[in-house]
Amino acid sequence: MKNDISKILVSEAEIQAKVQELGSLISHDYSEKYPIIICILKGAVLFMTDLIMSISIPLEIDFLSLSSYGDSTKSSGVVKIKKDIDSDIQGRHIIIVEDIVDSGLTLKYIQNYFDQHHPASIKVCALLDKPAAHKTDLKIDYIGFEVGNEFVVGYGLDYAQKYRNLPYIGILKEEIYRK
Ligand code: IMP
Ligand code: MG
Repeated sequence: MKNDISKILVSEAEIQAKVQELGSLISHDYSEKYPIIICILKGAVLFMTDLIMSISIPLEIDFLSLSSYGDSTKSSGVVKIKKDIDSDIQGRHIIIVEDIVDSGLTLKYIQNYFDQHHPASIKVCALLDKPAAHKTDLKIDYIGFEVGNEFVVGYGLDYAQKYRNLPYIGILKEEIYRK
């Protein structure tokens, strides 16, 4: 698995330090708000579980699963819900937890979808952001790290469902997905 990585972009220690930082910010911003943290499956699951343990205020969790890239590395822009959240979010403060924002089309879709259920507020926490790849204007409230236009894997992020269990974020060798 490690041989398929050309470079470690964010180390395990850097990730863990950033997660603590984001957890402190959220604990501060949401004291008394009893937020619902919504994890976008499957990529955000490792980030989300670490993040909620670094948050010191009461919260609820939920999960949303969308159709993915397939085995390609480009977003189709067409999104389908595979598993909806169970919570009633009306009047609640929700925080969407994403692994990475690339074109931003997925996030836009999710925000519009949740908007229809009238939450009190919606904020976004993304571990990684690729600002150069955005195809729509977005506000990401909490960002872990900005990355370039490379395809990255690890710490939940996959290529063809592989590499999610790497404890760091690495750049996947192009020869792996250009085969
Ligand atoms: P977007 O709709 O283009 O913003 O794509 C968002 C989704 O595509 C993310 O939630 C990831 O699941 C996936 N994705 C985008 N870029 C990468 C990457 O570099 N590595 C792994 N998954 C990615
Ligand atoms: Mg995702």
